[in-house]
Amino acid sequence: LRLTKSKTATSNFLVIAHRGASGYTPENTMAAFKKALELKADYIELDVQMTKDGKLVVIHDSNVSRTTNSEGEVKDFTYQELKKLDAGQWFHMKFSGQRIPSLQEVISEFHGKLGLLIEIKNPNLYPNIAEVLADELKKNNLHNLENNEVIVQSFDFELLQRFNKLVPNIPLGLLVKYRVHGISNVQLKEWSTLVQYINPNKALVTKKLVKRIQSYKLKVMPYTVRDMKSIKGLLDAKVDGIVTDYPDYFKK
Ligand code: G3P
Ligand code: CA
Repeated sequence: LRLTKSKTATSNFLVIAHRGASGYTPENTMAAFKKALELKADYIELDVQMTKDGKLVVIHDSNVSRTTNSEGEVKDFTYQELKKLDAGQWFHMKFSGQRIPSLQEVISEFHGKLGLLIEIKNPNLYPNIAEVLADELKKNNLHNLENNEVIVQSFDFELLQRFNKLVPNIPLGLLVKYRVHGISNVQLKEWSTLVQYINPNKALVTKKLVKRIQSYKLKVMPYTVRDMKSIKGLLDAKVDGIVTDYPDYFKK
């Protein structure tokens, strides 16, 4: 497994392909995840939502209109209906025929080849999404891994608390978008009782903040990196990894 083999004690920096290699391929499709693997990303990041009939599917928006040839809410489609949509054409005609993957398809194809950073989207729209995801990960025997090959992240701390009660051994990440009053130590202390990663918007990152977060034994993997200059700045700030649309930029 690349994740464990290629990482040495001195090189633990993680390159995470945001929605797959979404700079080159239509986000959150099998083509995007395959490209991430080709570009030797350590992880793929993917967004999970739920169909009308309770199936977990991999798509960023709660509505299909931006990334498919149809329109409507994911929650109003059955899985079978959703599978008919084209999820590649919008990006480029050469990706025509790409479908919205189920989470199960991504796990079956990519677990063991690179790490999975799974983001739970819109818990307000899918009241039982934590339970359904926990069941799916258990079914695949991914709930008691000794390494961090599967990480679950969300912007919603309470959702992560609920999820953790169901599957206490799955490593967790808290996404942080913007905070008017910054991130307090009280906050960090509370978060560190539950999660292993704080994944902030890259605009929030300063050397000082990274140091403070890491002093709570938390790792920092900011999103979303799309240019070389930001990579340099983040490396300088000593982050633990980056979430990027271009997983090859880091090596360059
Ligand atoms: O992994 C972080 C990032 O994916 C969060 O933002 O909107 O791309 O899901 P978004
Ligand atoms: Ca995401």
